[in-house]
Amino acid sequence: MTQDPLHTKLCDQLGVEFPIVSFTHCKDVAVAVINSGGFAVLGEAMHTPEEIEADIKWIRERIDGKPFGIDLVLPASAPAESSLDEISSKIPESHREFEQMIMEKYDVPMPKESVDLHQWGGLSQALGRAQLEVLLEERVPVIASGLGSPAFLLDAAHERGSLVWGLVGRTRQAKRQLEAGVDAIIAQGFDAAGHTGDMGTLSIVAEVSAIAGDTPIIAAGGITTGRHLAAALCLGASGVWTGTLWLACRESDIDMIIKERLVAATAADTVWSDSISGFTMRVLKCPWTEEWKKPEAPRPLTSPYQMILSSDYIQGANDARRADLMTEASGQGVGFVTEMLPARQIVSDMVEEALGVFDDLVGLPD
Ligand SMILES: Cc1cc2nc3c(=O)[nH]c(=O)nc-3n(C[C@H](O)[C@H](O)[C@H](O)COP(=O)(O)O)c2cc1C
Repeated sequence: MTQDPLHTKLCDQLGVEFPIVSFTHCKDVAVAVINSGGFAVLGEAMHTPEEIEADIKWIRERIDGKPFGIDLVLPASAPAESSLDEISSKIPESHREFEQMIMEKYDVPMPKESVDLHQWGGLSQALGRAQLEVLLEERVPVIASGLGSPAFLLDAAHERGSLVWGLVGRTRQAKRQLEAGVDAIIAQGFDAAGHTGDMGTLSIVAEVSAIAGDTPIIAAGGITTGRHLAAALCLGASGVWTGTLWLACRESDIDMIIKERLVAATAADTVWSDSISGFTMRVLKCPWTEEWKKPEAPRPLTSPYQMILSSDYIQGANDARRADLMTEASGQGVGFVTEMLPARQIVSDMVEEALGVFDDLVGLPD
């Protein structure tokens, strides 16, 4: 072996040292990863256009011209433009009754304030558009779409010098996006935290890499160690996209209760469920997900209806900091998240471990 196996075409595309992408909702994590030689994409789907603009400024002030990304959700299933009341009124009584049963059975407190889902880009296409306008205006280096094909925004983004990445759970989605000309594909498998399809990470990364040509493929789903990184590169990926890995890190702003649960959890503590948002999603098991699995439960609704239905439970549990009720998105790689380390150390541990694997297998140059 004559060259650095971690220097991939994704590193060249971005001008970064390591092919490690952090997906995070926490600005401090994003900045720490970027300043450690990796790349970070900040999830902004739940934020107003004004908040997104402020976050972009905040990040730019701390990364000395290095690149970063912003992720939105742009699902085709989002209603064109509808009010929360309008969507709520379509939730069937049977589902409301089941929700009520769970709230009473587990003594779930109501949220302190009524839940405001107005900002979620998946709730209306008009809102997703308004969020997107900010990214284009700000010439964000990488625009990623976690749900829904970003093909429609390619011309506008490229005109402004922005790259566009699409996240897929199926090879046929990847094929369409590659044909449209996206700049990188995140091939995300069933092991992943959050919204995810039913294809395993090993299978989707290999399949999508096989059809990608020169376009970088970024593997996602269950990746939490340097061994995973090395394996992803062996499958044909040019980098890894990781979410769970950063949740319990020192800089992460999530509740300490969830950090402690993540550090203690293994893959078996996660569940693939459509009971939270209406899309299939991997999260830590909680009474809400377990009740919706029972035979007497109604079929969860589609998005955005199920998301509105689950919102009082989720917010009520979080507001009261009830460890027995709270949940968070978590991937199957969570078993390797065993300490609350600084992001910089997570990056360097991953790099060291991956290089060690390649060295053991084929030997690395001195
Ligand atoms: C707490 C959390 C929230 C997430 N929210 C989003 C989101 O808003 N948009 C998105 O595209 N992906 C979201 N994801 C999924 C990540 O982008 C990523 O695909 C996933 O975490 C990869 O799997 P892993 O967690 O096993 O590394 C989320 C993941 C986590 C852990």
